[in-house]
Amino acid sequence: MTSPIIIAIDGCSSTGKSTFAKAIAKELGYIYIDTGAMYRAVTLLALRNGFVSGDNTIDGEALCRVLSAGGRAADISFRVSGPGGSSETWLGGENVEREIRTIGISRVVSHVAAIPGVRKFVDRTLREIGARKGVVMDGRDIGTAVFPDAELKIFMTARPEVRARRRYEEMHARGYDTSYEEILSNISERDYIDTHRGTAPLSQAPDAVLLDNSDMTVKDQLQWFRELLKRRHLCGF
Ligand code: DC
Repeated sequence: MTSPIIIAIDGCSSTGKSTFAKAIAKELGYIYIDTGAMYRAVTLLALRNGFVSGDNTIDGEALCRVLSAGGRAADISFRVSGPGGSSETWLGGENVEREIRTIGISRVVSHVAAIPGVRKFVDRTLREIGARKGVVMDGRDIGTAVFPDAELKIFMTARPEVRARRRYEEMHARGYDTSYEEILSNISERDYIDTHRGTAPLSQAPDAVLLDNSDMTVKDQLQWFRELLKRRHLCGF
């Protein structure tokens, strides 16, 4: 095994980034960081503080003030629940993993993530975590803005209907009652906002490897990844 590296995985929502990232982190013994969860936790903080109005306009100044004041209110962390358990998101000492996955948060999160001060706050936290190396991070701008020097970058994509179907099944398995149509429309809207925002818009880094997993199982993707590592002479399984 060569020395630990940073693996940056970017792509649109519901392309299976977290499933893939978790699987490769497990195989390599790396830490997995779901960077979207940080934006979701900041969104929850904004909603709870009344910084979001009906038309999804955010009081970015007030939100950034709370974030930069630091302290417990803005303390976002990841904790692993028991041995082999999955990472859960905590906000100010409260486990918010379930709450941040609701469609209510999904409707607002892209607007919150477009605020430059919010991105600065999240980027700083992610760089602190990544400094230790041996991490797999998934998001929208990890290979382009947060870690432009990451040793390995992967850009994931899949057809929108495939993505909406996957998210629908995932949400229903977790007990959320949201329609397929609502999910598909939310995915399209978020794609648009994420790729058109002024700060760090979603795009494929020139040195990122493209993975279209529309017709691939998780096993296929792992096999693809192993071959990629071999070709690049990077850390092996
Ligand atoms: O991956 P996700 O759907 O949980 O991400 C939620 C939102 O956060 C998504 O609409 C865009 C934003 N995001 C971002 O702007 N940059 C990242 N690195 C990760 C997520």
